[in-house]
Amino acid sequence: MPISFDPSSKIFHLQAKNTSYVMQIVNEGYLAHLYWGKRVRHARVPNSLRFKDRGFSPNPNKEDRSFSLDTLPQEYPAYGNTDFRGPAVQIEQPNGSRITDFRYDSHEIISGKPKLSGLPATYVEGENEAETLKLRLKDEVLGLYITLMYTVFKELNVITRSTLIENNGLETQHILKAASINVDIRDTRFEMMNLPGAWVRERDVERLSLRRGVQSVGSRRGSSSHHQNPFIALVRPETTESLGEAFGFSLVYSGSFDASVEIDQTNQTRVTMGINSFDFSWKLEPSEVFQTPEVVMVYSSEGIGEMSRTYHTLYRNRLCRGEHRNKERPILINNWEATYFDFDENKIMSIADIAAEAGIELFVLDDGWFGERDNDKTSLGDWFINKEKLPNGLVGLAEKINEKGMKFGLWFEPEMISVDSDLYRNHPDWCIHVPNRRRSESRNQLVLDFSRPDVCEEVLKRVTAILDSAPIEYVKWDMNRNMTEIGSAALPANRQKEIAHRYLLGLYSVLEELTSRFPHILFESCSGGGGRFDPGMLYYMPQTWTSDNTDAISRLRIQHGTSLVYPVSSMGAHVSEVPNHQVGRITPLETRGHVAMDGNLGYELDVTKLSDEEKEEMKKQISLYKSIRMTVQYGDLYRLIDPFKCQNYGTIHVSEDKTKAVLFYVHVLAEANGPFQTIKLSGLDPDKDYRIIETNEVYGGDELMNMGVNIPYPNHDFKSVMYRLESL
Ligand code: DGJ
Repeated sequence: MPISFDPSSKIFHLQAKNTSYVMQIVNEGYLAHLYWGKRVRHARVPNSLRFKDRGFSPNPNKEDRSFSLDTLPQEYPAYGNTDFRGPAVQIEQPNGSRITDFRYDSHEIISGKPKLSGLPATYVEGENEAETLKLRLKDEVLGLYITLMYTVFKELNVITRSTLIENNGLETQHILKAASINVDIRDTRFEMMNLPGAWVRERDVERLSLRRGVQSVGSRRGSSSHHQNPFIALVRPETTESLGEAFGFSLVYSGSFDASVEIDQTNQTRVTMGINSFDFSWKLEPSEVFQTPEVVMVYSSEGIGEMSRTYHTLYRNRLCRGEHRNKERPILINNWEATYFDFDENKIMSIADIAAEAGIELFVLDDGWFGERDNDKTSLGDWFINKEKLPNGLVGLAEKINEKGMKFGLWFEPEMISVDSDLYRNHPDWCIHVPNRRRSESRNQLVLDFSRPDVCEEVLKRVTAILDSAPIEYVKWDMNRNMTEIGSAALPANRQKEIAHRYLLGLYSVLEELTSRFPHILFESCSGGGGRFDPGMLYYMPQTWTSDNTDAISRLRIQHGTSLVYPVSSMGAHVSEVPNHQVGRITPLETRGHVAMDGNLGYELDVTKLSDEEKEEMKKQISLYKSIRMTVQYGDLYRLIDPFKCQNYGTIHVSEDKTKAVLFYVHVLAEANGPFQTIKLSGLDPDKDYRIIETNEVYGGDELMNMGVNIPYPNHDFKSVMYRLESL
């Protein structure tokens, strides 16, 4: 039984594959956290909590000076009832009070995993995959209930959590904060990892020691953002890629979020994660409920690499959905860096001809096909074909592309509106804005108010009309700015702080509807590259455009950081032209190919300008990728060299049955008279012998992992190597 409850000790014991998570109801019904870590067979009372009178830690019950919520490791702490640390929940009441006191009410253990209403979340296929504990807490005075939902995945080291707040009282309440999770770990020997970044520089890996007090990461942009990802991990100071403990927290949400880590006076570490409470409140009428997003908690006792592989397995198979979930992803060509806005049907077809010849499977028409869109100042919202550029319409173009044997895909940016658009002229109040304030533009555009059902409805109508009008089999869903002057013309004053979250609920409902109307379409999400590379979007779209930075060398870090949480099958990676458009770097076509093959390979350059030799090389890359893509996209990823610690880079992708593997290595700068390079592989079967196809050498898996494999001498800058391994 993955979840058990012992009524005498009042201990809940959750057991995932090799993980235990233990809680206890203590004192007058408070829910305490006891343990999260390596699986134990039993969790018994002697190992449980100890209490002591501590100065300046007040006592809810004056008869018991040893008990204070200020020092109790809690599962879902409230504000104001003796705990001075950051709360998980805060409710403002009609009388002005913000004090609540939630105690155990009841619990239920069910098989499977219930859906979260209106929100993306991991799921099960079959009741046997997981068990769920619904733990109900109650505030007697307000008639408010909180249900803490814990799902234990039996075959993975995964526990997911979310929280439901239910107003069963007679009065309207305002939620000021509703975290998805809180975990108080009785230990502080951790470092925190997170993924900060910027546009074209997404997901650096940062790892810092914890200090006493609060350290937090988050986004206030209305989007998960390039700048922080909704992910943190606590790792031991000695934890490496392959050794030691790692505790991952990944929020399935695409909006403003907050993750904070607080070390308290008695050496406990509080982790709280969820929707950002800054500029948030939610009016909860009697009988209404509020559902928080889900946090996916992964435990690894075998290093950061194992934590990542657990996220990859879960997100690939039980977060992503739809027809394309486990299918090989098509090799695409995108015209953005080839033409920007300057194209017509002839130009597109000249690119498509060469792409088809090279074996590319999908042509993606990027920005500029609609309205008067010859630059980024106009037409977002006017999703009608530009007949000057495409005289035969999308259908004419798509059919020609299909005739070449390629699928046709299309770019959209449906959440946005240009001031210079008919949509804006007709509906100036449909954007997010505040009366009598400037509507600040970013990339010359405003954000459509997706908190309004009428706006969502109209967007759905327009996008559906286009998708119905031509054989479109792929959509790139872009989003190129963050929210400012957040306000909605459709909501009353006391609901204005709900807009950012309502926007996400609106977006999710549009995406749910669209993906069910067009199940055959492969959706790829994008936000100026990886500005919304988060689990929330992956639920609807199994791929994300990883970054607008297509430089092979910049990509080493970006793809490494992204892979901490997200599977290779979700990472779009394109070969682009040199000098590179973002950094001006000139790298060999071979290296650009190898780095893009380390994700979902695509091309994004004017192939009509390539020499015959380059076209031949591209063709070879494509046929090579077709032979390795199943292993790369759906194998297990082992990171071999950390590009944040040295300049070089190495990964190996190993098929599930360990019969095939693909090694990528990039040596960034050549060195005069430099050392030889040998790289130790990971993830292979030590008892199998492997042939390296490129060198025709045979080695044991044990040799390759312990003695390593020689890498050809790096005789020029940006040299890369790709080895295919096959077991004999
Ligand atoms: C930003 C995206 O990340 C690019 O790939 C491209 O689609 C542009 N938007 C188009 O405006």
